[in-house]
Amino acid sequence: MKLKLILASALLAAGCAVSAQTVIKFSHVVAADTPKGKAAEFFAKKAAELTKGKVKVEVYANSTLYKDKEELEALQIGAVQMLAPSLAKFGPLGVKEFEIFDFPFIFDDTADLHKVTQGPVGTGLMAKLEPRGIKGLAFWDNGFKSFSANTPIKTPADLKGKKLRIQSSKVLEEQTRALGAIPQVMAFAEVYQALQTGVVDGTENPISNFYTQKMHEVQKHLTITNHGYLGYAVIVNKKFWDALPADVRGPLEQAMKEATVYANKIAQDENDLALDGVKKSGKTTVYVPTKEERMAFKKALVPVHAKMAERVGKDTLDEVYKETA
Ligand code: LMR
Repeated sequence: MKLKLILASALLAAGCAVSAQTVIKFSHVVAADTPKGKAAEFFAKKAAELTKGKVKVEVYANSTLYKDKEELEALQIGAVQMLAPSLAKFGPLGVKEFEIFDFPFIFDDTADLHKVTQGPVGTGLMAKLEPRGIKGLAFWDNGFKSFSANTPIKTPADLKGKKLRIQSSKVLEEQTRALGAIPQVMAFAEVYQALQTGVVDGTENPISNFYTQKMHEVQKHLTITNHGYLGYAVIVNKKFWDALPADVRGPLEQAMKEATVYANKIAQDENDLALDGVKKSGKTTVYVPTKEERMAFKKALVPVHAKMAERVGKDTLDEVYKETA
């Protein structure tokens, strides 16, 4: 009898060990129906499938777990294992070079951008995260940003004196100043309320973020300036990642590869759909600037490159210029 019991508990223990699941908490700040939100869900599904259930990815959207600054701290202490912060949010970590992606008008289009993210500059940037206990797995697209406010925006002068919410990037701060506007760094989770209460007058974001955060309810004007890029680095706690057994990490890498293809495939469509949504809402007037009007924004904002070259490193800037020439 006693032997039977011992055997039974040994079997149970073995069973538990076999079914022990690795949980990856993936926290992010945007809505589930955005390029990042959908790609995170896609990754969770693929990860379960390819690891045959050995890994469970729990996705926490919309800042339900942490806001911008806290999520990076949570990753470093291992309270969450995976994030995909916007590339504009790495400055506070001390990795200022990521702010190259915030340079206004530096990429003509996504093809230009991919030359950088998928080339040596992208690899070099990810490597800079490792001394911070972070490993970069992939770059995911969102898209190009547009300006919004409660008054029409046709020229850079229309934003003069306005308080604009920006992400925590010195390059974006300089961009805002170049327009004669006042930068206000604020967590993404707080933007809707800040716009609603007039704490800030306007902001910039790809339309997918604008629409899914319902900013169209609290901004009367949106001008499709496409003046700068917003995308993500998918990152993990390095200690956690390196400790994964190879037969788990391999399938996860494959799941990430597939999720990246998916993310970059849907990003433009999601932004197009969001633009339709904004237009249909009838709450925000969408303005498409003429070529000349857009060039006026470019003229006002390109001087930011020279001013911020030192921040990201002249070499990084030159390499990006070369790759996108
Ligand atoms: C923002 O703060 O505006 C964006 O970085 C949010 C996001 O993650 O797309």
